[in-house]
Amino acid sequence: MNTTSRIYLDNAATTPLDPEVLDAMLPYLKDHFGNPSSIYSYGREAKMGIEKARKQVAQLVGCTPNEIVFTSGGTESINTAIYTSVNYLNCNHIITTKIEHHATLHSVQYCEQKEHIKVSYLHLNELGQINYDELETLLKLPNTKTLVCLMHANNEIGNLLKIKKVSELVQAYNAYFLCDTVQTIGHYPIQFTDHLVDFAICAPHKFHGPKGVGFLLVNNRVNFPAFIQGGAQERNHRGGTENVYGIVGLAKALEKALNNYESYSAHVLELKTYCYQELKQNFEFLHFNGTLFENNLYTLLNFSVPDEHKAELLIYNLDMNQICISSGSACSSGSSIGSHVIAEIKPSYKGHHFRISFSHLNTKSEIDSLITTLKKFI
Ligand SMILES: Cc1ncc(COP(=O)(O)O)c(C=O)c1O
Repeated sequence: MNTTSRIYLDNAATTPLDPEVLDAMLPYLKDHFGNPSSIYSYGREAKMGIEKARKQVAQLVGCTPNEIVFTSGGTESINTAIYTSVNYLNCNHIITTKIEHHATLHSVQYCEQKEHIKVSYLHLNELGQINYDELETLLKLPNTKTLVCLMHANNEIGNLLKIKKVSELVQAYNAYFLCDTVQTIGHYPIQFTDHLVDFAICAPHKFHGPKGVGFLLVNNRVNFPAFIQGGAQERNHRGGTENVYGIVGLAKALEKALNNYESYSAHVLELKTYCYQELKQNFEFLHFNGTLFENNLYTLLNFSVPDEHKAELLIYNLDMNQICISSGSACSSGSSIGSHVIAEIKPSYKGHHFRISFSHLNTKSEIDSLITTLKKFI
């Protein structure tokens, strides 16, 4: 298959590795291959790579280096923050929504079943927004130690949380705040100062970094035990030999993404706006989901096709024409899984949902090809 002719518009799922990031990683795959726990020079070189990356990352996101724990990515970080909050920080109540990523939802459900904690799901309106007054009411519940698990940006519909507002409420009621920032770190210059959160999450494969690595930001005020036993790595928090080249790549990807934030975000927002206008003009039967342009990620668009027949044709023909967008279904197996997010906010809606997500590497002419292909087949 000719990979160069493919149009990749699923950047919220993952992104291609930036060649500069690969260049930064290569020495740690080749020359500096030592085990960072070894005391001789090979080990020290590898250790220096990790500690330099930690300092750089901390500076970029506005925290101290000892608040960064490198992990294998978003899912591990979220699982860790939830299980540890319940098992060691004595949280007996979790406030969340039913449109979080499954890494959160399934961990919360596990704690509910196994640890018998109380779970409160915030109500959502048709656009997928929470009610901040309801959050405050739930934070006031007596005899509870609460963990609030709310994502900064929804990975399917792009809605952005008022993170500062939630942070203030959480602090006022002496609760903990886990914010799933997987879709925002690397896309916004967020600074985690003034105890903004207790836990934040980074997955660099969402901004042209490597897969299988990430970090969990744990605020210094949280007394956090070891969550993987078996070694003193990551200041005794996570045992196991570190993914040195991944960590180095993470720091490089974050540095590049944030240094270029102004130009990347302006370009990507222009693509989103153009794509939205073209879709709206050419296909009046589409319904757009989420808050769209108000308090929403500049990186993605989500729409529904009400007619099942049209939706199936669309999935098939986009794939045949080498255009990759997320269809929210397992079409290869023939079974439509659908989106738990749209199912939650529009329960009676029977259509099929699509997500287009952009990166600075995409172009207007790729959007034109998408629209031309759609017009040809619908
Ligand atoms: C919002 C959100 N949270 C968590 C994750 C999981 O991250 P990872 O793929 O690094 O495990 C993702 C990835 O799709 C995501 O979009």
